[in-house]
Amino acid sequence: MELDPDRLKLFSYHLFTKLEGAVTSGMIHLGDQLGLYKALAAAPQPMTTTQLAHATQLNERWVREWSYNQAAAKIISTINTPSMSTTTSVPAIDDDMFYLSPEQIAVLATDAHPAFGMGMFHRLPQTMESLKRMPESFRTGIGHNYDSHGPEGAVGIERSFEPWTNANLISAVLPALDGVAKILDAGASIADIGCGAGGAVLLMAKAFPKSTFTGYEISQYALDRAAQKLKESALDNAHFNDARTNPLPADHSLDFVTTFDCIHDMTHPAEMMHAIHAALKPNGTWMLVDIKAHDTFALNMQKNPMAPLMYGISVMSCMSSAMSTPGGAGLGTLGLSATTAETMAKAAGFSHFRKLDVDHSVNAFYEIRP
Ligand SMILES: C[S@@+](CC[C@H](N)C(=O)[O-])C[C@H]1O[C@@H](n2cnc3c(N)ncnc32)[C@H](O)[C@@H]1O
Repeated sequence: MELDPDRLKLFSYHLFTKLEGAVTSGMIHLGDQLGLYKALAAAPQPMTTTQLAHATQLNERWVREWSYNQAAAKIISTINTPSMSTTTSVPAIDDDMFYLSPEQIAVLATDAHPAFGMGMFHRLPQTMESLKRMPESFRTGIGHNYDSHGPEGAVGIERSFEPWTNANLISAVLPALDGVAKILDAGASIADIGCGAGGAVLLMAKAFPKSTFTGYEISQYALDRAAQKLKESALDNAHFNDARTNPLPADHSLDFVTTFDCIHDMTHPAEMMHAIHAALKPNGTWMLVDIKAHDTFALNMQKNPMAPLMYGISVMSCMSSAMSTPGGAGLGTLGLSATTAETMAKAAGFSHFRKLDVDHSVNAFYEIRP
C-alpha cells in the first residue's frame, strides 16, 4: 500500500485530537481543583478573565490561558464583546467573556447533580502517574490495586459514583428489585462489597434504619474515607470491614448483597461470586452493578463510542487492579458482559439472573438469586 498524503494528514490530525483530549483533561482537572468552574457557575453574568481571576484569587494571565483552552475545547462557553474604548487594533483582554450553560454548570460545578462529571478528572494525575508503573506491569503481568492511586484516587472514585447513586439508588434502583425494599424496611442484614468510600452503605443505612449494613473493601484509603464519613453520619447501623482480614460471613446469613462497579476489578471474581452465594440466605438477593459491556471487542468497538476510554482506563486502573496479584482474572473495565456475568453467577451456584430496567449511561444492573 502506498502512503497517501491526504490520509497521512487526516491520520496525524486524528492522532493529535487524542493529545488535545488528554491536555484539555488536565485543564479540566485544574478547573475543578482551583474552583474556576464553581466561580463561573456562581457569577450572575459572563465574566472577563480579570473578574474570574479576582473571584478565584488566581493570577489573571494563567486564568486567561486556561479559559482560552476551555472555551476552544467547548468545555466552557464564551462571548466576544469588543470593548468600545479600544483605540488600537490590539484586542483588549476583557473583550472575551466566559460563562457556563446550565448543562455545563450541572456537569462541571454541581457536586450533587447526578450528571456531575468531575470524579474521573479529580483522579487524573494519579491515573496518569500509573503510566510510570505500566512498562513493568506489561513485562511481569502484575498490576496495581486501587491504593496505588493514593488517597486522592479514592476521593476521585467517590466523586465519580456518589452523585448518581445519591440521586437514584433509593428512589429508582432498589424498587426495581423484586421485594428487596420491603425486606430492608422490615429489618435485614446487608453487605456492600467493594464499597469504596461507603456512600451507598451510608445512604441505605439512613434510609432503612431497621437494617444493618456492612461495607467490605480492600483499599485502605477508601476505608479511611468511609470511617470518617461514618463518624460524621453518626449512624449506628453501618459498619466497614477490611475484606482481607474480616471477609464476608459464609453462613447464609445475609438478605441482600450489593456490588457496585467492582467485580470486574477483582483479582478473583469467580471466588467472590462463590463467597456471595455462601453469604446469602437461600431467598436472598445479590444486586450486581457493573459496566455495560458487549461480549466481544468487535462489538464494544462498534457500539460503544467510549470504548477507547474504557480500554485505556482498564489498563491504568480496572484491569491493573484485577491483575494486581499473581493469577488475577484480569476481567477489566469491559470484561463483565451480561453473558459473562450470568455464566459466572450460574457457575457459582446462582439460578436466577435478571437484568433490571434501570437507565444508566455506563452501568448495567442485575438481580441475582441462589
Ligand atoms: C471502581 S471502585 C468502586 C467503589 C464503590 N463501589 C463505588 O461505587 O464508589 C472498585 C472498588 O473495588 C475494590 N475492590 C477490589 N477488589 C476487591 C475485593 N476483593 N474485595 C473488596 N473490594 C475490592 C477496590 O479497592 C475499589 O475500591
